[in-house]
Amino acid sequence: MATPSTGTRDTCRRAAPSIVMSEDMVKDGYEDIVNIDISSVAIDMMKMKYEEIPQLKYLQMDVRDMSFFEDESFDAVIDKGTLDSLMCGTNAPISASQMLGEVSRLLKPGGIYMLITYGDPKARMIHLKWKVYNWKIELYIIARPGFEKPGGCSSSMKSYLEPVPITDDGQLPAEFVLEDPDSHFIYVCKKMNDMDENHIPSYTLKGDIL
Ligand SMILES: C[S@@+](CC[C@H](N)C(=O)[O-])C[C@H]1O[C@@H](n2cnc3c(N)ncnc32)[C@H](O)[C@@H]1O
Repeated sequence: MATPSTGTRDTCRRAAPSIVMSEDMVKDGYEDIVNIDISSVAIDMMKMKYEEIPQLKYLQMDVRDMSFFEDESFDAVIDKGTLDSLMCGTNAPISASQMLGEVSRLLKPGGIYMLITYGDPKARMIHLKWKVYNWKIELYIIARPGFEKPGGCSSSMKSYLEPVPITDDGQLPAEFVLEDPDSHFIYVCKKMNDMDENHIPSYTLKGDIL
């Protein structure tokens, strides 16, 4: 996992719309984790479950409108399944651009948006690579736990810890073989400063994406 370029590891402010992951992050020393979900039922349950862990805050909120938070107020945003959920709803491309625009606004320069998803680059890069976000994107692919390659070998840890090569337009190279069709795709998107030039070119904003 890439490390945010601002703040120290245990004081960074992170938005982590997840459940077990947030608990594990507290064990790892993170001190200010804001968890959001549109479901008040989910938020109320989590608030009760974790009321004695002050590092975890829970807010009922729509990720498409996070105006409650100031610009550039987060070191990192972790999304496990929320964009996927929006992509299954009505007006999915518009919802995705609203959510990702908000994520981009909330991140400090150098901050990280980590998207954990079932969407492969064909399905996700079109939403992530808008020039306005100015994200440098690395892709990691993790097979499901216990996955074994045909022939009985389990997938190597090494491949999980190294970014997968992607083409200039953010796709998997033609020769790339996806071992497990049920892999998780992890996009680590770093918000670049306007002055940073050395990153993968982004798509220009096109109306036809909507
Ligand atoms: C696949 S679940 C993932 C839950 C959690 N992130 C985890 O990993 O355990 C998707 C979640 O997205 C939430 N969700 C869907 N649309 C949302 C929106 N517009 N704003 C915030 N949360 C939303 C759903 O309520 C649901 O809890």
